[in-house]
Amino acid sequence: MNPKTKIEELKQLIERYNYEYHVLDNPTISDQEYDQLMLKLNRLETEYPELKTPDSPTNRIGGMALDKFVKVTHDQPMLSLGNAFSAEELIDFDRKIQSEVSDYSYTVELKIDGLSVSIKYRNGLLIQGATRGDGVVGEDITENIKTISAIPLKIPILEPLEVRGEIYMPKKAFNELNEQKAAKGEALFKNPRNAAAGSIRQLDPQLVRKRRLSVFVYYLMNREMTESHYEALKRLESWGFKINPYTKQCPSIEQVIQYIDEISTIRKELPYDIDGIVIKVDEIGLYKKIGATVKFPKWAIAYKFPAEEVETVLNDITFQVGRTGVVKPVAELEPVMVSGSLVSRATLHNEDFCLEKDIHIGDHVLIRKAGEIIPEVLRVLKEKRLGNEVKFQMASHCPKCATKLIRKEAEADHYCPNPECEARHIEGLIHFASRDAYNIEGLGEAILTDLFNDGIVKNIVDIFLLKEHYDELIEREGFGKKSIDNLVAAIEASKKNPLDKWLFGLGIRHVGSKIARVITDEYPTIDQVMAASEAELLRISDVGVVIAKSITDYFRDLHNREQIDQLKKLGLNQRASERAPKGNAVFSGMNIVLTGTLERFTRSEATELIERLGGKVVGSVSKKTDLIVAGIQAGSKLDKGLELGIRIIEEAEFSQMVTNESNEQSSL
Ligand code: IVH
Repeated sequence: MNPKTKIEELKQLIERYNYEYHVLDNPTISDQEYDQLMLKLNRLETEYPELKTPDSPTNRIGGMALDKFVKVTHDQPMLSLGNAFSAEELIDFDRKIQSEVSDYSYTVELKIDGLSVSIKYRNGLLIQGATRGDGVVGEDITENIKTISAIPLKIPILEPLEVRGEIYMPKKAFNELNEQKAAKGEALFKNPRNAAAGSIRQLDPQLVRKRRLSVFVYYLMNREMTESHYEALKRLESWGFKINPYTKQCPSIEQVIQYIDEISTIRKELPYDIDGIVIKVDEIGLYKKIGATVKFPKWAIAYKFPAEEVETVLNDITFQVGRTGVVKPVAELEPVMVSGSLVSRATLHNEDFCLEKDIHIGDHVLIRKAGEIIPEVLRVLKEKRLGNEVKFQMASHCPKCATKLIRKEAEADHYCPNPECEARHIEGLIHFASRDAYNIEGLGEAILTDLFNDGIVKNIVDIFLLKEHYDELIEREGFGKKSIDNLVAAIEASKKNPLDKWLFGLGIRHVGSKIARVITDEYPTIDQVMAASEAELLRISDVGVVIAKSITDYFRDLHNREQIDQLKKLGLNQRASERAPKGNAVFSGMNIVLTGTLERFTRSEATELIERLGGKVVGSVSKKTDLIVAGIQAGSKLDKGLELGIRIIEEAEFSQMVTNESNEQSSL
């Protein structure tokens, strides 16, 4: 047989076995036999490189590692969905559809808890995979998705095609990955979604392949191809895509609700995590008529399972010192899985909270975790008390430096007043390196605590001297050359941060990221900030007496001044970022309200962008509001905005506005 025919035959055979294994979940040959076929194909392709084609399964082994991901703009934004949390809300959703159209039905799908992906084909070949990003611009992950065997490299459709779906990590792969990580003493992934997200953003496709990711596709962007969404999914299935087997057609909302009940009972047994159910109108031709709100399509909705409440035992109460010296009680819990992650600690806020809830060590408690929010103790199951529980008592002294704690009148928190307290120093360093401050990637809590305890990083200056400890770091367990190189590079790159990040990072009391920006807008160099008197600072709107005094006190301290001098010598950028010229920036003179959760930006990032582009972020909606940026689960502010007829945009549009504007400014 000539090599070309042999290669073709092997390719087809391997992709068929691949499909049986990864899509149908029904392998018909052993792993060894499969590996033999791959080896054979690989050998032939090495011998006849001109015969290797883009759809060859050997491409799944993983190509070259990248330096960074390239940004891609989606042809159509990747939208998210509105949420419903109860049957009533679903009935409401249905009622609104009824008011627009008749003769419709639903397709119900599982809401896979992973990350969405856009996959494009041209002439039947996979040409691009992209993450959602902010919905408008994502990242090119083509090489990575090629390693996912459930994604076909070739399909029998020649016209340009885009498919969207959810990449996820099966529970089994997640557990095994964490077992391996635990054996190596590495930090564990919190849940399969984080593991999938972390894996798909690996620059080296070979590593991605080892993570055993999978995908369910849930949307065909070529809407014109079928009249029914369910039909589109069936077609996708016939072209080799993996469609979730629990996808079901339901003629009415009552049947949808019944199906949701059924899924809820088997949810825990599924081999992957789901965080809800997606309900879509099946008749694609009705989508235009049903339309979209400012945020989401109205023809689909995500039913979210209620946040799980889990019972566990409160084994102990410890006290944690924050960077400002606030000491907070923390519940040390018997570890339990809550909403997909292992929880062993929860905040107990302050003394009043614990007394009000009558918390005792040894209590059975109900805890809850919603999304990424810190777990909280909901209530104590007093009926389970045996009598040997120990009543909560607020610490009287700092757990780290033993200084007597103080509680100011009219404040709920206790403070450690010792400015030299070690715990405060560590927290201060963590704050400096954190995302909204100096944003040094790779320099998180665990590493900083270790480096502090070993005396390598005792203060902010030491962070920038870390490279001098290169040889010492290489010797340390858990530090590879590559991770040290990356860390040193991230520290060097961070020196370019604008001045407000530095000012915020210093952790001066009452100086949040917004105040830091307001101040550096007026005093755009570090020397000017340091020289500003209390009276001068008070002239800035938003800066009151407490803030002004806190800043001048900080810079009067000789020790602090010396630190600033050293940081200047180490090359930190001493200037504020250029402000957009007033008057012609996109948000110029506008009062803008942010509401709901933004997925791509933190609140402070969005605020910073708005302010840089001439706008002002205000807290409440009134007639003076010019624009509302609505994130997920935007509530009363959005309603009020609609009532007052204020312009409302969703995150994707906001993102586009700030991206366009930033590009224009940089090209000026
Ligand atoms: S449909 C306009 N279907 O949930 C249609 N999304 O909040 C948009 N997801 O970003 C998506 N499973 O990442 C759809 N069966 C499913 C889904 C699903 C998971 C994710 C997706 C999306 C988010 C919507």
